[in-house]
Amino acid sequence: MLVSKPPMGWNTWNTFGEKINEDLIKETADVLVEKGLDKFGYKYVVIDDCWALRERDKDGKITADPVKFPHGIKALAAYLHEKGLKLGMYSCAGNMTCAGYPASFNHEFTDAETFAEWGVDFLKYDFCYLPKTVSGKYLFRRMGLALLNSGRDILFSGCSWGADNTKDWIKTTSASMWRCTGDIFDNWESLKSIITLRADFDAVNSVGSYADMDMLIVGMNGKGNVGLNKGCTEEEYRTHINVWTFMGSPLMVGADLRTLDDKSLKLLTNKELIAIDQDSMSCQPFDLYSSSDFMQKARILDNGDIAVLLCNLSDTDRGTWFDLSSLSLEQSGDLDVTVTDVWTNETRGFVNQCFSTFVKAHESKVYRIKLKKK
Ligand code: GLA
Repeated sequence: MLVSKPPMGWNTWNTFGEKINEDLIKETADVLVEKGLDKFGYKYVVIDDCWALRERDKDGKITADPVKFPHGIKALAAYLHEKGLKLGMYSCAGNMTCAGYPASFNHEFTDAETFAEWGVDFLKYDFCYLPKTVSGKYLFRRMGLALLNSGRDILFSGCSWGADNTKDWIKTTSASMWRCTGDIFDNWESLKSIITLRADFDAVNSVGSYADMDMLIVGMNGKGNVGLNKGCTEEEYRTHINVWTFMGSPLMVGADLRTLDDKSLKLLTNKELIAIDQDSMSCQPFDLYSSSDFMQKARILDNGDIAVLLCNLSDTDRGTWFDLSSLSLEQSGDLDVTVTDVWTNETRGFVNQCFSTFVKAHESKVYRIKLKKK
């Protein structure tokens, strides 16, 4: 299935883990639409691990837990479709899912058919408990084929955390998005580690094969399944959304939407940032003057603008600058170059070919740069 923009939506795992059910999904879908998140592009509602019964039925079919989902998945899919949303489900390439529920190894084509019958639009496919005899890349290819032959457009979202050199084979599997890093937790250390590791995937992220930095923790504030202590500060959450969108990662909200505070809603719905995330070209970012704990990157956008990310991963505040030459625009005397901060909307130019600013510890800035011929 060709997907031409990084997918956006919501996923149960970060906040709810095993505590999922039909009412939660319906209430989330209702709130998602009430708060207008769908208008920003958040369309997929994904039920992660722990939705199935522990045993397949007598015909070998996977079955939703009737206590958690008394009306079944088909009815839930219809409920979401009625609201203009899409339903995502979860399975795993191994003998069991990561939480120990039935997985799809040796049942790939049956499960893909079941998902298609239910009206599922998206499959997150995990990498736990792989059989010893078949490598993960074959199993991902097999599920890719099963989905493509299922008779329904189902987005294939691979979740192998970058393991076994995922980036070298993921494009052979037909996955539209793929986890490039390990599981996220709701704290600064986790964010910093994913941001640092993500640099290895700049060259392989591309249209139709999006490197997924994992579900968002914005708005969790330390609560829920991957919540730790107090979570992150507002500025750290801003850095989180700044980096995910600058990199063009899929955006799957992980917080409880029913209790989401206004600050978090604002972080998730910055139009400028979402436009950068969803840019149709997904050009590869390039370094301005990056070091291990201070990233400065730029990315050419489809309308000829340039996005710039300055991200201070260190624990000390820093003054910083970048110049026109780092953007390949040195001595472009025939150009007016303006720089707009996507959060404050403040616009400035370059002074003596330089743009300087100040970025506090754990903070980041995203700018959209416009070029105009004089
Ligand atoms: C793995 C994945 C997570 C989540 C859990 C569910 O750890 O990386 O995103 O799906 O499994 O068990």
